Parts: sequence; structure tokens; C-alpha cells
Amino acid sequence: MTSDPTPRSSDPAAKLLAEMTLEEKIGQLNQLNFTTLHDDLRGRLAAGEIGSLLNVVDLDTINELQRIAVEESRLGIPLLIGRDVIHGFKTIFPIPLGQAASWNEDVVKEGARVAAVEAGSSGINWTFAPMLDVCRDPRWGRIAECLGEDPWLASRLARAMVQGIQGQDLRQPGAIAACAKHFAGYGACEAGRDYATTNIPENELRNVYLPPFKAAVDAGVATVMASFSDLNGIPASGNRWLMTDVLRGEWGFEGFVVSDWESVPQLAVHGLTASDRESAQAAANAGIGMDMASQTYHHHLADLVRAGLVDESVIDSAAASIIQLKIDLGLFDYPFSYTKDYPPMANPQHLQAAREAARQSLVLLKNEPDTLPIDLSRVDSLAVIGPLADDAYEQLGTWVFDGDPQLSHTPLSAIRALAGDNTRVHAAAGLAYSRSTSTDGFADALEAARQSDVVLMFVGEESILSGEAHCRADISLPGAQQALVARVAELGKPLVLIVLAGRPLTLGPVLEHADALLYAWHPGTMGGPAIADVLFGSHAPQGKLPVTFPRMVGQIPIYYSQKNTGKPATADSFTPIDEIPLRAAQTSVGNTSFHLDAGYTPQFPFGFGLSYTRFEYSDIRVSAESLPVGSSVEVSADLTNAGDREGVEIAQLYIRDLAGSVTRPVKELKGWQRVSLQPGETTRLTFTLGPGELAFFDRNNELNTEPGEFHVFIGGNSDTRLRATFQVTA
Ligand code: NOJ
Repeated sequence: MTSDPTPRSSDPAAKLLAEMTLEEKIGQLNQLNFTTLHDDLRGRLAAGEIGSLLNVVDLDTINELQRIAVEESRLGIPLLIGRDVIHGFKTIFPIPLGQAASWNEDVVKEGARVAAVEAGSSGINWTFAPMLDVCRDPRWGRIAECLGEDPWLASRLARAMVQGIQGQDLRQPGAIAACAKHFAGYGACEAGRDYATTNIPENELRNVYLPPFKAAVDAGVATVMASFSDLNGIPASGNRWLMTDVLRGEWGFEGFVVSDWESVPQLAVHGLTASDRESAQAAANAGIGMDMASQTYHHHLADLVRAGLVDESVIDSAAASIIQLKIDLGLFDYPFSYTKDYPPMANPQHLQAAREAARQSLVLLKNEPDTLPIDLSRVDSLAVIGPLADDAYEQLGTWVFDGDPQLSHTPLSAIRALAGDNTRVHAAAGLAYSRSTSTDGFADALEAARQSDVVLMFVGEESILSGEAHCRADISLPGAQQALVARVAELGKPLVLIVLAGRPLTLGPVLEHADALLYAWHPGTMGGPAIADVLFGSHAPQGKLPVTFPRMVGQIPIYYSQKNTGKPATADSFTPIDEIPLRAAQTSVGNTSFHLDAGYTPQFPFGFGLSYTRFEYSDIRVSAESLPVGSSVEVSADLTNAGDREGVEIAQLYIRDLAGSVTRPVKELKGWQRVSLQPGETTRLTFTLGPGELAFFDRNNELNTEPGEFHVFIGGNSDTRLRATFQVTA
């Protein structure tokens, strides 16, 4: 938020604070989980013991809670009403990882805006989104909630989400407060196991994990949530360096930090503190302004202040920021919400926005010539099989507390609608749900496939196999799905796999059977029509992967912006396990960095995604071969639509800083452009690289551009080889 230039004495938050007792101030720091509106809660609200509630969604109840707070408490301070509105409220958009595959800030912003409007119409004024944990481990269930593996992409989409949620003015109906979470490093949990420890060197933290949070702060995010995890030995909720030195000191954040659910008392479970009282002390002194759900602040803070272990100024500053947000939201003037101020939930515009977001999130990973799009005028019959073809609930994805499966349009219903009378649709799930190991339904599915010209098979994961605390060590298709794919493939019909999942899956065993593979993530309410639009070619696929797909779990972490190592693998140096001669002699000469059984490349690289046409890149040039530190260079290349259909390409720009005071990744995304081209059309792409793109956190953890040679690449994914070179001089 922008800083208020008025002197503190005329600052309404400060004025109010001056009238408050210590207990009332601590009340503002106390967030409770709502269950029912019982007498005890009424009494506590009237006593000013509660500053915020989460998980209440009924408009009348929220208005009554606000009424008690503003009319019956001594100072009449309204409530923050928080809720996890992660990728839609009633109208569910694709999971955030899917939205990130659109690489489209407008789409992401619109999804956030619709979510905020629908949540706001229920009386909610604060969402715990966006989730900004950079993640390079698809075992982690929460990868579904994040914006992918790359700090540059995630930072731009973070800004778009904050803008969408908060709008231009928090006082307007439909604008609610955002919360950048989980600060910080949570996505690096060991073994991709939720809540596990993270060990991230400060330099990597600054170059990789912190940038999306900095982008959210720069975009004016109202609040930040602390991560559950232990960061380098100091769990986030007790980490003063993160919460105060970096967030406030370096970045100038003026909002407040909320703990995660009971993460304050968990400081003792981690072993940072020995009691709840010590946890309250550590968290408050670290800079955690609000205690979510645990009441540890409520029980201990007043006593800690009286004992001199927490300075009252710590409480004052947290309470002032919380009150300031209530002022910014206009809650002192308008504590109540009215349906008439909002459009209806899940209205046609919202559903259309969800359909467009779902379309743009789809990533075409394989397409043997002429498999997709399907020309319905030439196909007499289609088989629609697989456990996720007609499951209104599972297509919504994780974190959809308020989503309504009855609003969902499934792939099967959308395909039936489009197929009309000309094309027969033979539907049979084959498996009742994704984890099912029963082969009882195989015969029906095989029969449907046998009767059809083309097979559309919807496989993947149920929603509950990703999200918080739902991590997997084996990320292949669960249950008997691989077996069903193999059986269907034996029929020799054109086979299109559509994968609905909350994470990258290891697709090797089914990829070989598929003629085409469309990755749909969990696409939300309008997933069915969006998928049908692309399968039948009214819309071409545009999405690009926001995260690397491994071949095997053992490759994890595998991400495009890896360091080169001293012995990088090459095609020539890689020896697959089966080619090693028996009793070959051990040597340490000429070896390189790879797995004998998985090689050194991913299944699909970051940024990858096919279209129905073919794009070619050529003639890369730089505007200067040498430039002084602090100046900019233009990089350009030709992009041609070399196929015979119109298409949209997401053209990507990467750099490599060849030598640095700390080693630099082999590639780093520094820009992208969305370009629409007609068949045969060529356009000249131009990107500008300036200090904002060339600088990195150096050996002293300072943001600097270092002189030396840079490579710059333009292409359709992170594996691009089209390269130019320039020098940055001192
Ligand atoms: C725990 C989760 O980590 C966090 O993301 C969420 O916002 C809170 N619970 C509240 O539900």
C-alpha cells in the first residue's frame, strides 16, 4: 500500500489506537475460525476480543457479525472476514498452475477479479490468495495452487492477481484484500512432502523464491501470510529476518502479516520454542501481526507485554496496520454487504471468463499429424471414456470450498452438445474414479472405443490427490488407468488423451500409446466446453508449461534454470544404463551429470506447448554487441507461422549470464510476447533487456548487473537454441 503522508496525530488508525486498551489492541490481532454464531462468540465480539474471522460465507451471518462488532463493541471496529478463494468462488477457474499455463496476465487478472466479486457478494472482504510459492517439485500437492517454477513468470502473474483481487480501490464493491502467501520458501519443502523443512541459501531465496512476493508488495498487496515451514532452521512464523528485515525494512511493506493456521503454537512443535507463551513472544517479535485460529496471542500477549518480553509498540504497530486495512476497505463507513451491489454469482460473463481461462490453460503436449483438431464433419462416432470424462466435481480441482459442481459443464456434456446429431458419442467411464483398480468397467470402455472412429480418453487425478497435505511420491496416473490406456491403444484407433491433474504427472508409459495428448490441469467449472473448443478446433491450443515435466520422479528437482555444474551432460556423453558394458571400468575422467536410467532431459521442458500450426524462429539479433552496465539492449528475431492454420504463439526470451560472482542458471526467462499469426505470416519480435532483466543478487546478496558476456535466446520453449551474444562492460 502507498504510504500515508499525513502526520500520525491526524491518522485515524493512530487516533483510534490511542483510545484502545492493551486487550482491545490484542483483540485486533486475534483471528478465529467461525463455526456458529453462538452466544460466546457474540460476547467476545462485543468485548472487542476478535479482529477477524475466517470461514464464514453466509451474507446474513456476516452482516450480523459486523453489526455486533460495530454496534455492540466499545470502539465499533468492524471485522476482517477471510476465506480461501484460490481460483474462484462459485465460478471456478482453472487451478492457479493451469492459469499460469496461459502466460496471460489479463486472463489471470480477470479470474482474480471474478473471484473477488463473487466472494465480496457473500460479505467476504479478504482472500488468502495469491499463492506465490515457486515450486520445482511436482510431488508437492500444493504445486496445484502455485504459479509454476519460474520467478519471472510467477512475479508477473502475481502482480496481475493482486490487481484483480484488490481492484483500483479497495472501497469499491468487488474489491477485497489480497494475501501473498506463503512467505517464504514453502515450495522447496524436502521431498515434496507438505510442511517439511526447507533449506534455501539466502542467495537462492533472493534470486528464486522471494521475487514473486516482492512483485506482490510492489503491486500493493494488503497482507502477507507466513509459511508453515522451517526456513534454514527458523520457521517462518518466528523468522524476524524475513518478516521484518526483508519484508518491511527492505521492501517497505506497510500491511500486516497473518500467521498460517495455528503456525504460531507450531513454533514449539518445530522446536524453536518451548511453550505456547514463548511461541507468542517469538512470533510477535518476528513481525507476525495476526494469529490465525490458535488464540495464542489472545492467551499470552498481554502478559508478555507486562513482563517486558514484547514491547507494546510491537502490538501497536500490528493493530494499526490491521485497523488501517479496515479503513482502506471502507469498513468503518460501510460494514455491511448487500447483494444488490453485486452481479449474480456464476453469471454468463463469469462463466465465459472461466471458459476463456480454461481454454488458454490447455497445453497440447503431443499431436501426431492430423490427430487434432477433430473435424466433426468427418467423424461418425466418438468414444468418450475415462474416469474424468464426466465428473462435475473432480474437474474443479483443489481448494474450492465454495465451488458448486452443479454448475460444472463436463467434457462429456460439452462433447455431446457439439457433436449434435451427426456424430454418435459412445460413453463409458471404464473406471469409476482415478484411483480405482477395478477392471470391471474395462469391457464397456473397450466396446465404446471399438464402435468409434476416434477415442477421447479423460484420465488424470482426482482433486483430492493434490492440494494441501496431498503429496505423492509416485506421480504417474493412479489406479488402473495406465492399464486401461494400454488396452484401448491395442484397438489401433486414433487415441487422444486428455489429462486432468493438479500437478505434472510422469506420462511416459501412456505417452507412447497416445496419438495426441492435451494437458488440462483441473480446468474448473467450464472445463468441458473449453476442452471441446480445442479438441474440435474452434480454438487452437495456446498454453505453455509453467513447470518442467519430469520423465521419472527420481529426476526431481528438475527445472530449466538449473546451474551448469562443472560437468554438464551432453547428448554425446550420456550413456543409457543398457549400453554400459559388463564390468566396465570405473573412471572419473570424462563423466557428466545425468541419471543412467532417465538421462538428463525432462519429458517436456518449461515453456513447451504445441499449436495446431507450426511456428519457426530465425534471425536473432542484438541492437548492440557491447553495452555499459545500466543500459539496455534490444533483441529481435523473426517468428513465422509455417503451418497452414492461424495460431497464437507465446514467444519467450531467455538470458544466460556466463560468469558471475555467484554461478548463474543456464537459462533465465526474462520476457514473453503473445503473438497471433496467419498461415505464412512472419513478424519481427523485439524485446528490451535492461538492468531489471540483467541484474541478479550477487555474492553479497545485492542486486547488481555484473560486466561480462551474456547469451540471449528467443524461442517457443526453454529448450530453444536460437542464440545471440552481447557484452556488458564496466
Ligand atoms: C492453511 C493453508 O496453508 C493456507 O494456505 C490457508 O490460507 C489457511 N490454512 C486458511 O485456510
